[in-house]
Amino acid sequence: MAENGSSRHAVSTRYLGFARAEAAGSSAVYERLALAVAADEATLDLLAALPAGKAQPNLLFGALRWHGAPVQDPAAALAWLLDHGDEVRATVLQRSTQTNEAARCAVLLPGLAELAARTDGPLAVVEVGASAGLCLLYDAWRYRYALPGGGEHLVGPAVSDVELPCAVDGLGAAQRLPAAVPAIAWRAGLDLSPLDPADADTRRWLECLVWPEHAERAERLRLALDVAARLRPPVLAGDMTTDLAPLLARARRHLDEVAGRGRGAVVVTHSAALVYLGAEGRSAVRQAIEEAGAHRLGVEGWAVLPDLAPQPPHEHDGGSPFLVSLDDAPLALAAPHGSALTFL
Ligand SMILES: C[S@@+](CC[C@H](N)C(=O)[O-])C[C@H]1O[C@@H](n2cnc3c(N)ncnc32)[C@H](O)[C@@H]1O
Repeated sequence: MAENGSSRHAVSTRYLGFARAEAAGSSAVYERLALAVAADEATLDLLAALPAGKAQPNLLFGALRWHGAPVQDPAAALAWLLDHGDEVRATVLQRSTQTNEAARCAVLLPGLAELAARTDGPLAVVEVGASAGLCLLYDAWRYRYALPGGGEHLVGPAVSDVELPCAVDGLGAAQRLPAAVPAIAWRAGLDLSPLDPADADTRRWLECLVWPEHAERAERLRLALDVAARLRPPVLAGDMTTDLAPLLARARRHLDEVAGRGRGAVVVTHSAALVYLGAEGRSAVRQAIEEAGAHRLGVEGWAVLPDLAPQPPHEHDGGSPFLVSLDDAPLALAAPHGSALTFL
């Protein structure tokens, strides 16, 4: 076991798991690279010596691409890493996986609309783990839902620079899609390290975090960052486990002013963010939400579920590992980057 790090065996197991459960079927380049890392003693040594949380595949692979390593060829990439270990280590220590995917709005939108329909006024949205704020801009995107029997359901402005395709399926799918994006009277994000969507360095790092074969996502990211650079969704620096309550109070005050005392609803949204907390952190977030009388709408990996919402009634098949939940109700399964939604 390395100082502050993990054992080589644990790192190897993690990369094998990533190759099989996450990359397979989505990125052959990352699947091959992860399998090669899992079997390479020198790379495992480098990773095992990193602080906890810094040895993860998405971070290493993003850093390799940032430095121009030949990731398409695993043997060449690992040989390159042997010569450039210090640079890659510095990048991994300096940066983190802040992948921002606007398409996650497509899997959260039906829940947002469901909440709005039960509410006597507009919504105030507070996103925790907001990165560059792309998932705060529900009303800027055009949603193109592909229906199970063929046909499409379009939501959002007739003209948008960014279109989000999402295949829907499951219980009453067509009926559960909203006609329009609900009114959002106030919005703000909270992030340990808010990103500026106009900053060239940030934009390049975010592009390095999009998996190699996901060209459509990379293009969408560039367009969505352009929109965010114009609209400037506010993302404040702070830790969601300790700094959420004052932001929820601000959101409530704003709704009281514009909609009348106690009207409308404050909703805390989160996507691929609570996975960065331990059970204690998730419980602190949950408590802040409850104490503020706010709602919670999120899409997260299966592993963080028990701390958020009851398990859905059927077995998870491993093919669609994210779950959308609204308060205590599981609503749907979702593809991790927002391209598909299966209502429960
Ligand atoms: C993978 S990104 C997801 C961004 C966005 N929600 C999305 O789905 O596109 C996770 C974000 O959570 C942030 N984060 C992690 N732990 C946090 C904490 N304790 N408080 C606030 N933000 C945190 C990270 O900085 C990062 O920007």
